[in-house]
This record gives sequence, structure tokens and C-alpha cells, in this order.
Amino acid sequence: MSLDSRAFRRALGTFPTGVAVVTAVMEDAKPMGITVNSFTAVSLDPPLVLWCLNRSSDRFAVFSAARPFVINVLGAVHESVSARLARPGAHVLDGLALTPTALGPPALADALAVFECAQEAVYPGGDHAILVGRVVRFSSRGDGEPLVFYRGRYGALPA
Ligand SMILES: Cc1cc2nc3c(=O)[nH]c(=O)nc-3n(C[C@H](O)[C@H](O)[C@H](O)COP(=O)(O)O)c2cc1C
Repeated sequence: MSLDSRAFRRALGTFPTGVAVVTAVMEDAKPMGITVNSFTAVSLDPPLVLWCLNRSSDRFAVFSAARPFVINVLGAVHESVSARLARPGAHVLDGLALTPTALGPPALADALAVFECAQEAVYPGGDHAILVGRVVRFSSRGDGEPLVFYRGRYGALPA
């Protein structure tokens, strides 16, 4: 059965999510980031998380091969960072406040939470790839409102 893909997207958009930026390092050692809302916790023991990457992304090769990657959970203050790193081809991190990590890819300095991951597995997921990471280090802040994505728009949780 073929689905109406626009209606399908609209229906999926009724599920509110947070927003994260995944950072990785390119072959030329330049760091890059991509905005995602497919970040999901998978397992506590072992500590596993996942995100899904569109196969049509310009940067599919880099991100799907990225052995270490870092998940940065965005706060409500990061709406412009999210929009910037969601623009096609616009994945460089120049001008953003970054913190080095032991694994290599930088973290966003003021992210609500940072998960440093070693790639555990890559699974096929239709037009996306499912990238599972093993969390080797993490940090989180006790304050800050999350950035929320719902019905194709940014929002914040009601206070
Ligand atoms: C809120 C939001 C969530 C997104 N989530 C994902 C995601 O989970 N996976 C993905 O591959 N792209 C996601 N995107 C799209 C990418 O951020 C980006 O727009 C796309 O990769 C740009 O094309 P390029 O990779 O070819 O440069 C999302 C975009 C937005 C605005």
C-alpha cells in the first residue's frame, strides 16, 4: 500500500521531540554538525543511543562513517543554531562556542546535555540509516529550557 507521504510527514510531526546537533570530524579534521530530531535513548546498560541520518544528505558518507560522534541536546536559546545547521550544505561550526572532547568531535559549549559516542552499529532504515552509538562520556546541565520541535515548528515547553 502506498501512503500519502505529505500526510505521513504531517502525522509524524504531531509527535513532539527535542532537537539535537550531532557533531563529527571530517577527513580534513574540520568539525561539522547536523540538526536532528531523531535522537533517541536505546539502552541504559550498555549505554546506547541512536539517531537516524537521511541517505540523501550531502554529508551521508561523513556522518555514517564517523566512528566517534557527539550528540548535543539543544536548549530553547539554540533555535538559530538549529536552523543554521539544518540548511542544506551548511554544516560547518565556525563562529559557534565549542568545547573539545576526548573523542575528537567538539561539543557545543552551552548544550543542555552532551553524549560522546563511539559508533556501535549502523542499521538500514529505509531512506535513512540508523546510527547506534555507545556513550563513553556524558555531561548535563541542571538548568536551561529545551528546544522543542512540533508540527514542523520550534517551540518551548510551557513554564
Ligand atoms: C528540527 C529538524 C530535525 C531534523 N532531523 C533530522 C534527522 O533526524 N535526520 C536527518 O538526516 N536530517 C534531519 N534534519 C535535516 C537536516 O538537519 C538537514 O536539513 C539536512 O541534512 C540538510 O541537507 P544536507 O545534509 O544534504 O546538507 C532535521 C532538520 C530539522 C530542522
